[in-house]
Formats: sequence, structure tokens, C-alpha cells
Amino acid sequence: MKRILLGVIGLLCLCVACLRKDLSFKPGEVWPDDKGVHINAHGGGILRVGDTYYWFGEHKTEGSAGNLAQVGVHCYSSKDLYNWKDEGIALSVVPDDTTSHIVKGCVLERPKVIYNKKNDQYVMWFHLEPRGAGYSGALSGVAVSKNVAGPYSFVNAFRPNAGFWPVNVQELHKQPCTFSADLRFSGGELPAHPDSLNLLGRDQISGQMARDMNLFVDDDGIAYHIYSSEENSTLHISQLTDDYTSYSGKYARFFPGRFMEAPALFKQKGKYYLIMSGCTGWAPNAGRSAVASSIWGPWKELENPFRGENSEVSFYSQSTYVLPVPGHADRFIYMGDRWTPENAIDGRYIWLPIRFEGEQPVIEWRSEWSY
Ligand code: DGJ
Repeated sequence: MKRILLGVIGLLCLCVACLRKDLSFKPGEVWPDDKGVHINAHGGGILRVGDTYYWFGEHKTEGSAGNLAQVGVHCYSSKDLYNWKDEGIALSVVPDDTTSHIVKGCVLERPKVIYNKKNDQYVMWFHLEPRGAGYSGALSGVAVSKNVAGPYSFVNAFRPNAGFWPVNVQELHKQPCTFSADLRFSGGELPAHPDSLNLLGRDQISGQMARDMNLFVDDDGIAYHIYSSEENSTLHISQLTDDYTSYSGKYARFFPGRFMEAPALFKQKGKYYLIMSGCTGWAPNAGRSAVASSIWGPWKELENPFRGENSEVSFYSQSTYVLPVPGHADRFIYMGDRWTPENAIDGRYIWLPIRFEGEQPVIEWRSEWSY
């Protein structure tokens, strides 16, 4: 009898937990989905379809092996951004086929999804590293689906813009590359300005490197891929083809030698903004920000957008996306990851409001807030 009573009480508690609606963001805390499980969508981004938001991110698993792609890209949906329903795995890695680009154990990071009106197709891009090759591949992966939550079919993985020069190429890039194989880049500052090493020229024929990335669709429907290139030293912005599944060949490079990672691009009052990080692996660092009147530049670097205590480590987070606040054209949400590489699945989400001081985006800490 006592066991039955305890069982009923347990069931009731579970029901209450499931019915409980969150009405605020609590940055850094465990964020339960509709099943009470911490949301598993790291390095993610959001796509709004009608009145529903879809959050796509890396599904991480326990331990440090969980930083590799053991499962794939997880999708959640929400009407209010606080409460998220588990929609399952949108793109699965392939368990045993070592010939597959997305074999289990590869690195599949920072997935983002955009919608292509012309083909009525959802297009997912992600940073892909072949299994066992560390971060040397620097490929972009593409997958498509007719349904927003998937399943997505893998299309291709490649390096950007093989054979093309950027629109702002300089004469020095057409000179021989002086990159020496023993000069390794593990983040931080380069011993020499990368333009003198000509990493761009080195990769002109095989295609440029693409690691941390984001997507942005402008008001005219043109889509862009924004990514850390040239051994992470320089940011590239590439225009995609009309179907959003490849590169058009038009691209530009910005912030040479600034080692920006985690780019998140958004537009406010006709101006383009970037929030980014420095380049220190999984460890947090001071944020970066920039503004431009055209996506093709010139981009002006602004200040660290984070303010107050722990701003020098971006409140222990790294940018992944900037989301316009529903119903407010001028308000935005910073989405960041608080990585826990020793137990990848426990990574937390730091979502905070962005306000503007003139053209400077500003992000302040709040332990709980609502939009
Ligand atoms: C920082 C990047 O932003 C992450 O996406 C990931 O690639 C880690 N580096 C790996 O060290």
C-alpha cells in the first residue's frame, strides 16, 4: 500500500513538473525540455517558422568524448522561447560507414538552419571535421530537408570558394605562400601577421578553411555563410547560391589576424552587427563586436560587448547566435554556450538581452530575466 502511495505521489510530481511552464530565462542553469531533460543543443541557432521557434544544436554526450559527434544535430521547438519540446535528432551521424563524411566520431559543430523559399527546402550548414583528423579539415557540411525538424539528408562537405579570390583580395595574396608547416596555430595571437604568411593564397586552389560558423539571410533573401578562416586568423563572409546549398564564389575577408571565433551576425536599423569571441579553444575569453553599413564592409571593430564582472570571459560563455526578440524589431537575445569540455553534455546556455549604446551592442549579466 505504502509503495503504491509513493508511486502515485511520484507520478503526480512528474506531472506537475511537466505541466510547469517557465516564464523566464535562467542563464547558466540546467534548462529542462518538455521531458525534464537538460536541453542538448550546443553551438546552436534558431529558425522561426510561423509562430514556432526551432532550436538546432550539437547533441553532446557524457565525458570528453562527448565533444565529438556521437549522435548528430538535436532539434527542439517552442512558441515562447522559454519552454522547449524535444523534436528529436534532425541530422544523425552515420554509425559505421567510414566512407561517410558524417561518420560517428567526426567533429560536427555549430549547426544552423535557414529556409529556402525558392525550393521550399530547409538547409542546414555546419562545421565538419573528418573523424580522427583533429581540426585540420576545416570543411563546411550541408544537409537538406522538406520538414523543418528533419530528418535532414546530408548533401556534401567541402571547403569554400576553391579557385576564387575574395572581392577585397590584395596583390600580396597572389604571391607565394610563406606558411611553414611547423608554425602551428592553437589560438591566441600569431607570431606574425597572417597576411605576410599568405594563408589565403595557400588555400586559393583547394578552397579556404571554414571552422566556427553562422548563417545570415538578408531582407532581400540573399544568404551568407560567416566563418573563421585562414587558420582561424581571419573572418570570411561568403554569399551562398540561390538554393543556399553552395558557395556563389563571391566572398570577402575581414579582421585579418584578429583570431575571431563564434561569429553571430544580425541586422538592426539597416546596420549589420557581429558578436564574436577570441580564439582560446573551449576556454572563454573577452567578446568582440563590430558594425558595418554593408555586409561587404568596411567592418569597424567595436568594444567587448560584455559589461561588468566577468565581462573579460564573456560571463563564461561563447557566442553562438543572436536572435531578434519576438515582436520587437530593435531588441535581440544573445545566445552563448558555457562549454564544459570535460563533460560535454553538461554545457549550459547563456541567453541575455542585447541593448545598444549608440552603435555599441551591450550585454549585461542577469541571473533571471524575461523579454
Ligand atoms: C572553440 C569553438 O568555438 C568551438 O566551436 C570548438 O570548435 C572549440 N573551439 C574546440 O576547441
